[in-house]
Amino acid sequence: MAVLVTGGAGFIGSHTAIQLLEKGYDIIVVDNLVNSSVESLNRVRRITGKDFKFYEADLVNKEEIRKIFIENNIEAVIHFAGLKAVGESVSIPLRYYHNNLLSTLNLCEVMEEFNIKKLVFSSSATVYGNPSSVPISEVFPLSATNPYGRTKLMIEDILRDLYASDNDWSIALLRYFNPIGAHSSGLIGEDPKGIPNNLVPYIAQVAGGKLDYLKVFGNTHPTKDGTGVRDYIHVVDLAGGHIKALEKVSTSKGIEAYNLGTGNGYTVLEVVEAYSKACGREIPYKIVDNRPGDVAACFADTSKAKEELGFSTTLTLQDMCMDSWKWQSNNPNGYEK
Ligand code: NAD
Ligand code: WQD
Repeated sequence: MAVLVTGGAGFIGSHTAIQLLEKGYDIIVVDNLVNSSVESLNRVRRITGKDFKFYEADLVNKEEIRKIFIENNIEAVIHFAGLKAVGESVSIPLRYYHNNLLSTLNLCEVMEEFNIKKLVFSSSATVYGNPSSVPISEVFPLSATNPYGRTKLMIEDILRDLYASDNDWSIALLRYFNPIGAHSSGLIGEDPKGIPNNLVPYIAQVAGGKLDYLKVFGNTHPTKDGTGVRDYIHVVDLAGGHIKALEKVSTSKGIEAYNLGTGNGYTVLEVVEAYSKACGREIPYKIVDNRPGDVAACFADTSKAKEELGFSTTLTLQDMCMDSWKWQSNNPNGYEK
């Protein structure tokens, strides 16, 4: 089966590409490299010993997508491509709406034209907004607290409308919690541009000596040590969820949302401790004010993904920190030589 992987040079896409190749799928990757490097794909080839086609193209340009569908016998699409920085989406919302919405509209229009109706979409736990309780299940009310989140919510709505109009579609909306970690080879991982926004990439750079200390955003949340609680999921486990979702959309029609998390919540200080253990040194930190918009606790009810996709995770927080550190210490400047 040939699968188009949009955004396949990125963090989650590259890890998923490995598992697709290992499972015997043919893949075609498209990415405009706005937030990634072509080197990640060279490393995917090195890890798997397999080759695949790569198109450096922008999904905002519909003709480029059409060309890919003309030249390949695509049967399903996993759609990772999108801009994802929450803070940036607040300062330049139009860029986020333009990129994320147009890319997806163009992709779906071309899929429809070629009668390809199997789609796995990268949604996010951000679509739950400020959840009233935890664990969060898929039936919780949806809302957005920033433009990035609103693009995910809008795309979910568009895809639900699309399915309602044509029941031949088969769509999985994967709501990721907090993906971290890296491939166990240490060859691919998360390569944020500039100063990282997210906790683990930030800690990784503190551990590597590139940043002085971690700013812990508040210790007065109603959690066990007062710091924020999140459901961190190893990117390799998360990649496995895409294989399960692909199997699901290949064998049944409909549109379903699935939480992909572990179901466990860890505080910021627990992550700091696990990372210190992984890298063998203290992670210096200072408590600072809460980050505006942050929820105290967010973790998944994972039962639907388990029952309907057969998805479960195996890797622990310690594994996530060890693999993150292996990637960081072997590649202090990411994919840059
Ligand atoms: P990433 O930035 O590493 O990967 C996204 C890729 O999409 C990048 O390689 C980028 O160059 C590409 N891209 C962006 N716009 C494009 C366009 N118009 N045309 C072609 N390529 C384009 O991010 P990631 O962490 O791998 O996330 C993948 C997806 O998962 C995104 O849609 C993101 O919103 C979603 N997601 C990520 C997280 C997370 O914490 N990493 C959590 C929930 C959801
Ligand atoms: C985790 C915890 C922070 C950085 C974001 C997006 C979400 C999704 C995943 C895409 C929180 C604390 C963080 C730091 C800190 N992305 N923290 N110091 O906010 O749960 O989710 O990424 O869909 O949409 O919002 O992840 O890693 O930024 O924060 O104390 O320097 O770490 O307050 O409690 P978040 P995060």
